[in-house]
Amino acid sequence: MTVAIEAERLVKRFGEQTVLDDLSFTVDEGTVLGVLGPNGSGKTTAVKAVTGLYRLDSGQARIFGRSVVQDADEVKQFTGFSGQYAAVDEDLSTAENLVLVGRLYGHSKADARRRADQLIDAFDMGSYARKRVGQHSGGMRRRVDLACALVGDPRVLVLDEPTTGLDPTSRQGLWEMIKELVAGGMTLLLTTQYLEEADVLADHVLVIAEGRQVALGTPDELKGRLGGDRVQVELASPEQDGRAAVHAVQALLNGSDADVTAGDGHLTFRTPEAARKLVPCVNALTEAGVAIEGISVQQPTLDDVFFALTRDSGSPSAAGVAVAERSE
Ligand SMILES: Nc1ncnc2c1ncn2[C@@H]1O[C@H](COP(=O)(O)OP(=O)(O)OP(=O)(O)O)[C@@H](O)[C@H]1O
Ligand SMILES: [Mg+2]
Repeated sequence: MTVAIEAERLVKRFGEQTVLDDLSFTVDEGTVLGVLGPNGSGKTTAVKAVTGLYRLDSGQARIFGRSVVQDADEVKQFTGFSGQYAAVDEDLSTAENLVLVGRLYGHSKADARRRADQLIDAFDMGSYARKRVGQHSGGMRRRVDLACALVGDPRVLVLDEPTTGLDPTSRQGLWEMIKELVAGGMTLLLTTQYLEEADVLADHVLVIAEGRQVALGTPDELKGRLGGDRVQVELASPEQDGRAAVHAVQALLNGSDADVTAGDGHLTFRTPEAARKLVPCVNALTEAGVAIEGISVQQPTLDDVFFALTRDSGSPSAAGVAVAERSE
C-alpha cells in the first residue's frame, strides 16, 4: 500500500515549550487516521506541521513522498486543509469564497465557478450560496470551510476538528460526506474531540499527550487493550454491602487486576469474557449476602480508552504502559 502522509520524528518548540516531541506517524493512501488528545496536546500543531504550515525544529513531513517544505507548491496541489477555526472571508458569500479559492489554485474564472457550483450542490448549501459568510451560523461556516478545502479536488485531506460546534444532525451529515470522499479513494488525517467521530471514521487512531504518542491502533485494538467489558452491578443497599461486594468480586476474579470499585450505588469492574462471568458473579455476591437490583455489561468505548490513556497526561508514557500491560 502507498504511504500518503509520512510524519517523521516531528519536533516543534514554541519558546521553551516542546509542543511536538519526536512524533512520528504514517497514513496509508485511502485510509483515515484520527488524532486524539487533550486540549493543548499538540493536535493542531501536528496537522499544521504535516501540511507545511509550521516550520519544524527537526523532523520532516512528506505527502506522497514530497517534502511539505521543499516541494510545498507541488504538495499544495494535492492536499486540502481545513483548520480548527474556519478561515473563510466573512465579507464574501459562500459562492465567492469558493471561487476565490479556485482562482488561488490557478483555475480560470469559468472553471472556478463551475467547481463552486458543484460543491454548493454536494454540500447542500444552495440556500446560502449568495449570503455573506459573516451572516452564517457556525455550522454553515464549517461547511463552507470544508468545501473550500475540496476546491482543488485533493487526494489528501487534513481536517482539524471538522465537526466541532455542529449539531448532531449536521455532524452526521458531514460524516456521511467524509465517508463518501474516503470511499472514493481520498486519504484523510483528522483531529477530533469526539471519540465517536474517530470510531465512525478512522481506520487507525493516534492518541497523543504533550506532543508524544501515547497509543496507536485501530479503534477495536485500542478498546481491546482496556482489559475487557465493563460490568456494573446495581446494589440494593450500597452503603451496607459495598465493601463485601468488592471483596466477593475480587475473590471471584482471583486477584486479577480487574479494578473493582464501589460508588454511586454501583459495583463496577472490568473483565474479559464478562458474559460468562455474570452467573458466577451473582452467585458470589448472593453468597456474601449482597442484595442485587440489576446487572449490566458494556463494551468499552473509545471514550473509556481516552480516559485511561490520558488520565495522567503529566506522564503520558506511564499511562500508555499501564494500559498496555493490562492487555497482556
Ligand atoms: N503559535 C503559537 N505560539 C506559542 N504557543 C503555541 C502556538 N500554537 C500552539 N501553542 C502551544 O502549543 C500547545 C499545543 O497547542 P495545539 O493548538 O497544537 O493543541 P491542540 O491539541 O490542538 O489543542 P485543542 O484541543 O485545544 O485544539 C499549547 O500549549 C499551545 O499553547
Ligand atoms: Mg487544536
